[in-house]
Amino acid sequence: MISVRNLSKYFQVENNIRYILNDVSLEINEGEFGIITGRSGAGKSTLLHLIAGLDTPSKGECWIGEESISSFDEDKRAEFRLKNIGFVFQTFNFLSSLTISENIMIPKILLNNDSTDQINSKIVKISNILGINHILNQLPNEVSGGELQRACIARAMINHPAVILADEPTGNLDTENRGVVVDSFNKMKGEFNVTILMVTHDEEIEENADTIFHLNDGIITKIR
Ligand SMILES: Nc1ncnc2c1ncn2[C@@H]1O[C@H](COP(=O)(O)OP(=O)(O)OP(=O)(O)O)[C@@H](O)[C@H]1O
Ligand SMILES: [Mg+2]
Repeated sequence: MISVRNLSKYFQVENNIRYILNDVSLEINEGEFGIITGRSGAGKSTLLHLIAGLDTPSKGECWIGEESISSFDEDKRAEFRLKNIGFVFQTFNFLSSLTISENIMIPKILLNNDSTDQINSKIVKISNILGINHILNQLPNEVSGGELQRACIARAMINHPAVILADEPTGNLDTENRGVVVDSFNKMKGEFNVTILMVTHDEEIEENADTIFHLNDGIITKIR
């Protein structure tokens, strides 16, 4: 479902080439929960951004299902991402003047294929599963970090993507909220059979993962 093939990302620094990712290959099957670990600066965010088509590789390809996202131009990548990929950012990236519900519906409105009633019923359904229906009409600065991160998962899921990519989604949370957010990903996997690839250092999440990769100085190793 997610297939990264001989992916490299490098930059020319004066007379040297600096590799951020060096011939990385990985596969995550449909409905699996994969994680990537590695120290700060190892290239984890770079890899997730390449898989999401937020960045372009120097060499190699990223496939989502039957499509090579790396072969698309920028407009096609954006459209493909909107329909097929949900991205959960560590820093939430919510618009502060919009309610939680309005923030969650943005990707749905961009797709422009549902009525307001249909959009609202989808938001209520996902919010019920994630336990955040009580905050839908509040502003982002009026809710807790754990609630906000669950709202990010709802926003990532609103177009029913095949794949969720999450960059250290529990990095800013306390133990209790980390557990709630991990449960939320498991619920999304159970309910929608979504394929999840997550960057994390959380040992509890590692126990839940089907596949574990370790990234060290741009070189990837499969741990499990
Ligand atoms: N546009 C760029 N030009 C040059 N170097 C870059 C560029 N973008 C990222 N890098 C470098 O690539 C390396 C990997 O960055 P990346 O953000 O992927 O690391 P990371 O594993 O996500 O780290 P962290 O755990 O701190 O988030 C870093 O050393 C960074 O400075
Ligand atoms: Mg990072």
